[in-house]
Amino acid sequence: MGKPEPLLKVRNLKMHFPVYRGVFVRREVERVRAVDGLDFDIYPGETLGLVGESGCGKSTTGRALIQLYRPTDGEVVFDGQNLCELEENQLHPLRRDLQMIFQDPYASLNPRMTVGDIIGEPLRVHRLAKGQKLRRRVQELMDTVGLDPRYIRRYPHEFSGGQRQRIGIARALACEPRFIVCDEPVSALDVSIQAQIMNLMEDLQEEFDLTFLFIAHDLAVVRHISDRIAVMYLGNLAEVADGDEIYVNPLHPYTEALLSAVPIPDPEIEKERTQIVLEGDVPSPLDPPSGCVFHTRCPYAWERCAKEKPQFKEAQPGHQVACHLVDEPDRRERIRSEMATDSANGALEASSEEVSAQSADGEDDSNEGASEVATVAGGAEEKT
Ligand SMILES: Nc1ncnc2c1ncn2[C@@H]1O[C@H](COP(=O)(O)OP(=O)(O)O)[C@@H](O)[C@H]1O
Ligand code: SF4
Ligand SMILES: [Mg+2]
Repeated sequence: MGKPEPLLKVRNLKMHFPVYRGVFVRREVERVRAVDGLDFDIYPGETLGLVGESGCGKSTTGRALIQLYRPTDGEVVFDGQNLCELEENQLHPLRRDLQMIFQDPYASLNPRMTVGDIIGEPLRVHRLAKGQKLRRRVQELMDTVGLDPRYIRRYPHEFSGGQRQRIGIARALACEPRFIVCDEPVSALDVSIQAQIMNLMEDLQEEFDLTFLFIAHDLAVVRHISDRIAVMYLGNLAEVADGDEIYVNPLHPYTEALLSAVPIPDPEIEKERTQIVLEGDVPSPLDPPSGCVFHTRCPYAWERCAKEKPQFKEAQPGHQVACHLVDEPDRRERIRSEMATDSANGALEASSEEVSAQSADGEDDSNEGASEVATVAGGAEEKT
């Protein structure tokens, strides 16, 4: 059986924000290239995880997909229609199908509206219910997301962070959408609440046959929930593959670097994998690097990378990547083994320094190194 038709086909999607100067004559002087040419599909019923560091363009992508931002260029084909070509009045009925759950459940809820008004608003805007019917539907939605329907007249500040996110989810569900952009929906919540909200979203997806784009800045968060994962860097896609595949066989150095930050419980795999620590910040999208946008931070980069932009293409079945290393597997292996040797030498040097420090102290602090590693791993785990 072949793959079904995608629910969303995204082609060459660009979202540039113009920067204007001048008091009397306003003119465009620069452009923030927040999203700079994305190609990917989202299939019905799946969760596509979208990850990348802060500022990579994830939220802008989500907003451009559902036309909260009207893209600068490209196509978003939903149900056979290119949304980017539609006028606002043609788009209006389709907006029911395309919803968003926001990162900060407090900032995204109007503090002067009751929960009933917030959840009911999309139903009123799309004229789907009013009066008693509206009230009953809102109470039903509250019940669906685990909120007590008796609290319908309360205000957002009367709820906890997790409950506020449930209000945001109920509002997104109100019009029975088909596609929801979930923009870091658990990042602002306590770790103990995160799992509850993730479980709720998974249950709702199954119950209502939903398709998700699930945005996170951390690969560990999307691992459990995603069928496929898209990795984004500075407005471009680095890699897209099945969730399991990307963890065991990352082809893009940026994905490798993000994975280095995720602890793997299997010590054998942990020992084998290449550790890449990313230095510095994501460069400015006002003036992205030439060639491959990752070349300023990539440990594998060579001359070609600064000159030529790698094509985003299928390297293995169902696994797409934008990296010149795909054409040069020998180079990848050589640099990997050099990095492995360097890190082994580094570890050796560190341990011999430790030994000499201990002998200088005259004390046996042999546990010190181990407890340092444990602290790092514990800190990383807390993020998941
Ligand atoms: N409305 C806007 N006007 C100008 N620049 C923007 C706007 N929204 C986002 N940006 C810029 O686009 C880049 C990507 O932002 P964003 O999509 O929010 O990234 P992420 O969600 O991955 O953290 C950032 O450099 C951000 O400053
Ligand atoms: S194209 Fe070059 S710089 Fe870009 S990710 Fe691949 S190796 Fe690194
Ligand atoms: Mg964001």
